[in-house]
Amino acid sequence: MTVPVVPKSRAGVMLERVTPETLELYAPRLAAITSGHIGKDNRSINFLHPYTSAQSIELFTRVAPTLTLTGPGRVVMWVARLPAEAGEEALESRDLDGNETAFPDIVGTVQLAFHVAPNGQFRSEVRKLIVDDRYQGRGIARVLMETLEREAKAGGSTLCLLDTEAGYAEHFYSKLGWTLSGYVPKYALTPDGKEKRDAAFMYKEL
Ligand SMILES: CC(C)(COP(=O)(O)OP(=O)(O)OC[C@H]1O[C@@H](n2cnc3c(N)ncnc32)[C@H](O)[C@@H]1OP(=O)(O)O)[C@@H](O)C(=O)NCCC(=O)NCCS
Repeated sequence: MTVPVVPKSRAGVMLERVTPETLELYAPRLAAITSGHIGKDNRSINFLHPYTSAQSIELFTRVAPTLTLTGPGRVVMWVARLPAEAGEEALESRDLDGNETAFPDIVGTVQLAFHVAPNGQFRSEVRKLIVDDRYQGRGIARVLMETLEREAKAGGSTLCLLDTEAGYAEHFYSKLGWTLSGYVPKYALTPDGKEKRDAAFMYKEL
């Protein structure tokens, strides 16, 4: 199987486009990356406690059918991998139950979803940008987003949208030229289910 990649980036990673087949293989590692973030500062990434590895894996594998679409509703997904030749050994990866997962060299991911409706075919959306918390601050998310924006534009998208918990990643997106549309109060529950946090809605014209 040929795996499309972009050259090694400034962040020292290679980006690989995910197929339904590789998604099946990579999902446990992506779930492990996600679990490293859930509950940090009581920030939520979709889940409430208690949640399982299986739920976390399903969050990723559910997009598989959209990865092979060629028209509206198609999703493009990437993983960022540490290239073997860089000589940097990947840190071990463990899932929620403490079991080791394969592909510890995968350190981040993001999804680009093209809009479904005919009147919004020029719109796209960013989903599930996440970087292993042990590899943050190396420019990996920036490289993922730059690649996503290029792909969105090449696919005919002139407007890209996203939402994120207010007060955290919105500052990262602002640095990358995204504009804040506004906040929706009490948008999502914290992992302990006790508090509803605001969401920031953002856009970028491509
Ligand atoms: C937000 C996240 C994706 C950033 O990943 P990262 O690989 O550490 O980001 P980068 O290293 O590419 O950062 C690029 C720039 O943004 C800045 N930045 C990164 N995260 C930031 C944050 N939370 N707040 C403010 N600035 C931030 C970096 O300092 C860097 O600035 P520089 O280019 O001037 O040095 C990562 O922290 C993460 O996975 N968080 C948990 C999941 C999440 O919140 N995802 C986004 C929700 S939609």
